[in-house]
Amino acid sequence: MAKTLSRVVLIGASGTVGSIILKALLEDPTDNFTISVLCRPSSTATFPEHDSLKVVKTAFDDLDSLTNVFKDHDAIIHASAIPTLPSQHVMIKAAAQAGSPKRFILNEFANSYDQPGLPELEQFRTPKREILDVAKQTALETNDAFSWTGLATGNFLDYALVKYPQIGVDIRNRKARLIDGGEERFSATILKDIGTAVRGILRRPQETRNRMCHVRSVETCQREILDVCQRELGEMGDSWDVESVDGKEMYERGREAFARGERNGMVDILVAQLFQRGAKRSIVVERKKSDNDLLGVREKSIEEVVREVLKNF
Ligand SMILES: NC(=O)c1ccc[n+]([C@@H]2O[C@H](COP(=O)([O-])OP(=O)(O)OC[C@H]3O[C@@H](n4cnc5c(N)ncnc54)[C@H](OP(=O)(O)O)[C@@H]3O)[C@@H](O)[C@H]2O)c1
Repeated sequence: MAKTLSRVVLIGASGTVGSIILKALLEDPTDNFTISVLCRPSSTATFPEHDSLKVVKTAFDDLDSLTNVFKDHDAIIHASAIPTLPSQHVMIKAAAQAGSPKRFILNEFANSYDQPGLPELEQFRTPKREILDVAKQTALETNDAFSWTGLATGNFLDYALVKYPQIGVDIRNRKARLIDGGEERFSATILKDIGTAVRGILRRPQETRNRMCHVRSVETCQREILDVCQRELGEMGDSWDVESVDGKEMYERGREAFARGERNGMVDILVAQLFQRGAKRSIVVERKKSDNDLLGVREKSIEEVVREVLKNF
């Protein structure tokens, strides 16, 4: 088996995804990962004191400085905020010219490119797709001195259930909004498993070279999530306010609102994308075809996921 890519640059390490990856690498007892956290100069983020961790600040568009930082590293993981996605163009260039083989883990963490998407959501996929194309081209041009990996995860279900009641089950306020009966199935990944999967990519460089990997923690639907929440909380019957919504109407409403310039319209479109009955837009990957086993991600029941989430309330 090829050697683990253990000398890592991590960009966005103070964020939602980045902090989970940092934890997975720092707490790993088997591979001695060393991590250079790369922050923008204006960053006020702080990190724990750790022998294997150093913090470097540099502008995300400074090719020379980035090239210098990337030297003596095996892998660069971009997990910075959405406005910084275009910085990957210059970072890919820096990685390709920094000498010694480099793996670039792209800032994907989204749906698979194989999933059908509503046209209004294409604007969010385009920047990532363009960067993916640049990575593919760079790998070709550098004769594989530069290689890339992307990770498709679908939505972050545990994070969404705490932060975004728009997902349809609002645990704090005991309200649910089920689209078309809430039975459309979707796959999702919990935050911790994203850290596990990225660590798995670093451990399996050969098998993850120049391709998208696909993982999932759970497959479920809105109705199941609501049922499990009610059961776990011992609140069956009328104690929740449950509303049923027609997915097609919701999509049309969202489109009209968005066309009028109301940003909230996009939330309705996103929800329709996920939950419209029969649309089959929401399974990132079937269990059997997933990279779970390769990357060390264990599939869970919705009960297990919800039980963990309820500890946050
Ligand atoms: N599939 C899903 O459900 C889902 C959900 C959330 C996110 N994502 C994806 O995950 C990726 C990472 O997103 P995230 O939510 O983890 O990022 P985030 O928490 O918003 O930001 C990550 C880090 O980016 C750095 N940063 C650099 N420039 C910034 C700027 N102009 N504004 C704000 N932060 C800036 C900050 O770190 P420093 O201060 O250290 O520089 C920040 O902590 C994105 O590709 C996003 O699309 C997917």
